[in-house]
Amino acid sequence: MPVFGFDPRSVNYMEADGNRYFLLSLEGKAPLLVRDECPHRGGPLHLGQLDVAAEELHCPWHCQRIALRHLRRSAMPLIVRRDSAVVVLPGAGDVPVRAQRRVLLAVPPAQQRCEGN
Ligand code: FES
Repeated sequence: MPVFGFDPRSVNYMEADGNRYFLLSLEGKAPLLVRDECPHRGGPLHLGQLDVAAEELHCPWHCQRIALRHLRRSAMPLIVRRDSAVVVLPGAGDVPVRAQRRVLLAVPPAQQRCEGN
């Protein structure tokens, strides 16, 4: 399993072994590194809408609601201390990790792009 260290101020998105992950920041709580793949049809959850009150993330493709408790349960093991973080990703230890900074839309406060769903 790759153990990957990074600075969460400059990295919020990564790819390894064909999987995509993003750093989901929640107000007052430790960030989570979660899969950037909706369970419905693989939509990019980092572009979803975070509904803090309902504790859900809405997928940008078909607005399926994903409970934050599900994302917490399936999040990668992550330790964050100020400007450094370490995560354990699934896969072989020698898998290259591609880290980058992207615009994340799945951030508080929630916006109302998925009204009526
Ligand atoms: S891919 Fe996410 S709701 Fe369809």
